[in-house]
Amino acid sequence: MEAHEKGFFTEEDSVAVVTGRNENAKDERLKQVMEVITRKLHEAVKEIEPTQDEWMQAILFLTRTGQMCNEWRQEFILLSDVLGVSMLVDAINNRKPSGASESTVLGPFHVADAPELPMGTNICLDQKGEDMVIEGRIVDTDGRPIANALLDVWQANDEGFYDVQQKGIQPDFNLRGVFRTGPDGRYWFRAVKPKYYPIPDDGPVGKLLKALGRHPNRPAHLHYIIKADGFETLTTHIFDPDDPYINSDAVFGVKKSLLAEFRRIDDPDRARAYDFDGDFWHVQYDFVLARLGEKRG
Ligand code: BEZ
Ligand code: FE
Repeated sequence: MEAHEKGFFTEEDSVAVVTGRNENAKDERLKQVMEVITRKLHEAVKEIEPTQDEWMQAILFLTRTGQMCNEWRQEFILLSDVLGVSMLVDAINNRKPSGASESTVLGPFHVADAPELPMGTNICLDQKGEDMVIEGRIVDTDGRPIANALLDVWQANDEGFYDVQQKGIQPDFNLRGVFRTGPDGRYWFRAVKPKYYPIPDDGPVGKLLKALGRHPNRPAHLHYIIKADGFETLTTHIFDPDDPYINSDAVFGVKKSLLAEFRRIDDPDRARAYDFDGDFWHVQYDFVLARLGEKRG
């Protein structure tokens, strides 16, 4: 037996025996990660004391989670989302300087090749939903406008589906677009008021939520990725604070600073100027980007 080998497996020495066996791993990071995971996992198993049948249920749950994955569906990411792990990884990797806009989960429905559109374009192509205009500025942490910033936006339609979930039903690139700021850092576009929708819940993760007495809904939001040279890319959402699920997002993505104000506007002249038929919603929200390497506060 080599020095790092800890003898035969026992309940008491389980962690030392297993992690000792990994001593020759060449990748130090892998060794560290496996040490922590083994320690925490054994601790959980010792506390839970699962029956053989319960352990098999856990194995079958993970098996079904893998079997649910395909080119369009990543059930393991969904699992990470509903366990709060995606938000935790996001928080750890996106600590921002004070004043910078906060990030939140990317989600599975971003597409990389959405068209760049003239400022003010109406990105709603299926004529469903309540008209909305969204405007604001993209600025640095000193409040200076950022020119040439790219704002990539996407949202679900009035029935709670993204275009990629309804290929052939919704027009391609419905409710998506990329806008480039000018020297004033301003952006504006037209869309429809988002609604809450369920995350895909017809698989093992949906079943787990049901068993836990949880709903699968995400409160109404718009997604953004904002990029500009010399600045950290911001992946975030803005949320409707009046949404019924604002305090119980299935994936824990809501942050106080990301609550926007959705104001109902009853003003025929303004509606006409935006080419809307009647009342519409107005949202004003500024994004603050952190400079690359800017000190976190
Ligand atoms: C989304 O907001 O698009 C989303 C995020 C996490 C899981 C499913 C959907
Ligand atoms: Fe979403």
